[in-house]
Amino acid sequence: MASIYVAALVENLLREHANPVLGLATGSTPLRLYRQLVEFHRQGLSFAHVTTVNLDEYVGLAAEDPHSYAAFMRRELFAQVDIPLGNIFLPNGMTQDLAGECARYDAILDCHPIDIQILGIGRNGHIGFNEPNDTLRGRTHVVDLAPNTLEANARYFDDTHPIPTQAITMGIESILRAREIVLMAFGRDKAQAVHRALSGEISTQNPASFLQMHPNTTFVLDEGAASSIGGIAAGKVSSV
Ligand code: F6R
Repeated sequence: MASIYVAALVENLLREHANPVLGLATGSTPLRLYRQLVEFHRQGLSFAHVTTVNLDEYVGLAAEDPHSYAAFMRRELFAQVDIPLGNIFLPNGMTQDLAGECARYDAILDCHPIDIQILGIGRNGHIGFNEPNDTLRGRTHVVDLAPNTLEANARYFDDTHPIPTQAITMGIESILRAREIVLMAFGRDKAQAVHRALSGEISTQNPASFLQMHPNTTFVLDEGAASSIGGIAAGKVSSV
């Protein structure tokens, strides 16, 4: 249900906007959303005028590497809809010039203001790969992935393929510039992170808490992810 609800939000945007820009996430959370969007496409929804910008990519993985986020997006969405290749943007994890790549990605984000940003959330409160830290960066940058992020991502890698320890990620400011943000979270293991995002202090140690400053953010949760927020007066929280 939750994913169908978010897919319907995206569908409306695509029907109403001539050149919509989607900010997209990878990971297990948006999988059913992408499946539903593919289904909508089969029923006639066109992505021909859609532009997408993804949140992040691993440093050191080529777009052809099946573990890369570029490959994930191709598999789960892009190869199954009619989006033009030139409208798809992800950071290039194979760059020899990380600073230059971050600047290039910022220029892309500046040219393509995001209409809807889809987010997942890490158990440690990260959004994109903005990990809890003493300071956070506003724009695109390189991050060392936190130990519990590496642990969570280990399920996608095996002995023959070490887990990348760094990623290029959009910064908090770029995320907050989106016109609308939809954070999706499923399962009890996200409950504490969701609770802290919604009602914790706004702190760089809890990156998702910065969403409290955004005027148009919706949390779309299943029962498990919503299980710690009983005391919060209903705002834009949908539990479906
Ligand atoms: C992915 C991303 C991450 C994930 C988060 C949750 O592009 O930016 O913030 O959204 O780590 O991952 P899952 O959905 O696998 O639990």
